[in-house]
Amino acid sequence: MKRKLFVTTALPYANGSFHIGHIMEYIQADVWVRFQRMQGNEVHFVCADDAHGAPIMLKAEAEGVTPQQLVRRIGAERKQYLDGFHIGFDNWHSTDSPENTELSQDIYRKLRAAGLTYTKPVEQFYDPVKGMFLADRYIKGECPKCGAKDQYGDACEVCSSVYSPTDLKNPYSTLSGAAPELKTSEHYFFKLSDPKCVAFLREWTGNDRLQSQVANKAKEWLEGKGDRELGDWDISRDAPYFGIPIPDAPGKYFYVWLDAPIGYLASFKNYCAKKGIDFEGFLADPQTEQVHFIGKDIIYFHTLFWPAMLKFAGYKIPNNVYVHGFITVSGAKMSKSRGTGISPLRYLEIGMNPEWLRYYIAAKLNANVEDLDFNPDDFVARVNSDLIGKYINIASRCAGFLSKRFSGTIRIGGQNAIIGKLQASAAEIARIYESRDFGRALREIMALADEVNAHVDRAKPWELAKQPGEEDRLHTVCSEAIQMFRLLTLYLKPTLPRLAAEVENFLGIAPLSWSDAGSLLPDGHRINDYKHLMARVDEKQLDALFDIPPVEPAKAQKKTAETAKIGSQSGSSSHRPSPQPSPPGGGEGAASASGATMISIDEFAKVDLRVAKIVKAEHVDGADKLLKLTLDIGSEQRTVFAGIKSAYDPATLEGRLTIMVANLAPRKMKFGLSQGMVLAASGDQKGASGEAPGIFLLAPDSGALPGMKVK
Ligand code: 2FM
Ligand code: ZN
Repeated sequence: MKRKLFVTTALPYANGSFHIGHIMEYIQADVWVRFQRMQGNEVHFVCADDAHGAPIMLKAEAEGVTPQQLVRRIGAERKQYLDGFHIGFDNWHSTDSPENTELSQDIYRKLRAAGLTYTKPVEQFYDPVKGMFLADRYIKGECPKCGAKDQYGDACEVCSSVYSPTDLKNPYSTLSGAAPELKTSEHYFFKLSDPKCVAFLREWTGNDRLQSQVANKAKEWLEGKGDRELGDWDISRDAPYFGIPIPDAPGKYFYVWLDAPIGYLASFKNYCAKKGIDFEGFLADPQTEQVHFIGKDIIYFHTLFWPAMLKFAGYKIPNNVYVHGFITVSGAKMSKSRGTGISPLRYLEIGMNPEWLRYYIAAKLNANVEDLDFNPDDFVARVNSDLIGKYINIASRCAGFLSKRFSGTIRIGGQNAIIGKLQASAAEIARIYESRDFGRALREIMALADEVNAHVDRAKPWELAKQPGEEDRLHTVCSEAIQMFRLLTLYLKPTLPRLAAEVENFLGIAPLSWSDAGSLLPDGHRINDYKHLMARVDEKQLDALFDIPPVEPAKAQKKTAETAKIGSQSGSSSHRPSPQPSPPGGGEGAASASGATMISIDEFAKVDLRVAKIVKAEHVDGADKLLKLTLDIGSEQRTVFAGIKSAYDPATLEGRLTIMVANLAPRKMKFGLSQGMVLAASGDQKGASGEAPGIFLLAPDSGALPGMKVK
């Protein structure tokens, strides 16, 4: 029977571009969705921007735009990534939408009516300068144990002791530098500890809808044995906050994590309205399955709050939450906000084939919550040896004979055991795709491709072609290889949709669905001329993906005094606007007096310049020009490799303030990941105190604090 599926991926925060972790999750879900569609199932696959919360509000403020403008700008970026990697969401929406406001308020009202909400006063730090309550991440101070300065409110990075923000000595707000005050306000809570919630969640997490690792984690939390306490959930935030107003509670907004998952429904509702689908009816149908793909860091929200909220508001409860691990790059961990050294956009910009990445990611995924490592050598090997060497190779060896010698027609010979085996594998491969063990599915498919190649090797069409009287045999061998290639394509199609479409075109057939495994190309069917379907990965492309050309000081110093960019990113040609010649009459693209291209204030505002404190400066083994800097920008620490070794002794830099570009895509360098760039002046004149021409790190006036925005 045809299944009805509503599938989502986690909603990304709308304060930054996609990183490779997002793309991995989308590829995983997209492969599964495409597989379901090939089975003939009805699937609606949606996502949206997770727009609300204090970080987005503050980022917008720092950029001088409204949160809505920021969210719109980020939202407009999404398409190029999704189209680029063939990720086929049916709809992309936003949690800052009328649908989400209506659904969130409705769910809240129903929970309130069910007696599952209450209010109580909460005492919290308040920034009197910013006029807002401070989440823990915006508070720093001295460690109550060892006195180390500039420690966050939860734990000391120096002595590792754990405490709460109110224990900090001399606390300060990282937003304004002001001393925070303790202030009380009324907060709204969802009663997760209510016995009926706990009983429901025990049942919900206990019946095979979750991976066993995930179910165990959820059960630990429910039993109060896990790393988090099963407390009631504080679902309100005080103004100023970018969020959805809580009904009948002036000045109170839903905490972003309340309205974020409701955004799944909001996006689907928005899609249904556009397509004339009955939103309520589809979800009310007991046959409908609601499936969420998420990362392992957000299990708590998706296996406790989310099903409980839905259940007690009378909404459909999720059927499955499928959790994946993180992606690492050559073993290095990824930061949630900054991603890793692989920029998905750079991947596309340098012309790497998106299906190489889809194949590689799928080949490394299984149904468990395991981290996945992107290893460049492994990537080249899997794509070139498996995908090209095994699968594409079949068509490229046999198709030419059919076109040249037999006008592209297919000849049916007798029974062929390998074709039979390929056809008989359809059910097992389907079962494996269904279970999301894509790595295993691709291994099975490649093992079949090995058998096909061995068969072609034995039959030697290139020799048959030279032997008189072997015409029929040649025709049959090549036809059978193409039949096999078609079946392999069918099995690879969820992973490689674009390539499969090209193969369908080459074979002159309608789009393949799973049931087509039961049939073959008929006798006399005519295929089109073979054009090479996929190129091999060139290792130089991986160098381009990871490596940054070295800083070019000679070139920089030819210019007159200018603010130079010194850091890992400075040589990145694709991200660096090159100076334009000045057009007569100015206008767009006009040059300033110094010869640099004029830009608008909006273009400038895209650069997130921050005051950064150099907490550590170190030499880098094997690097002639670089120092490794650890920079504190208030909300976090960054590592930046800066080309300033010729000008600075690292010991003199520690404790200094400088300016960094905080929103530069991180780059993997030979020595590690560089997460931004510090600014310095350079030129060919001597320095003010007569120093040789060199590099002069920028610094703010005293009083500036780490994290302050430079504008
Ligand atoms: O962790 C995150 O990136 C969140 N924006 C995920 C939200 S998923 C869902 F609840 F919307
Ligand atoms: Zn300490």
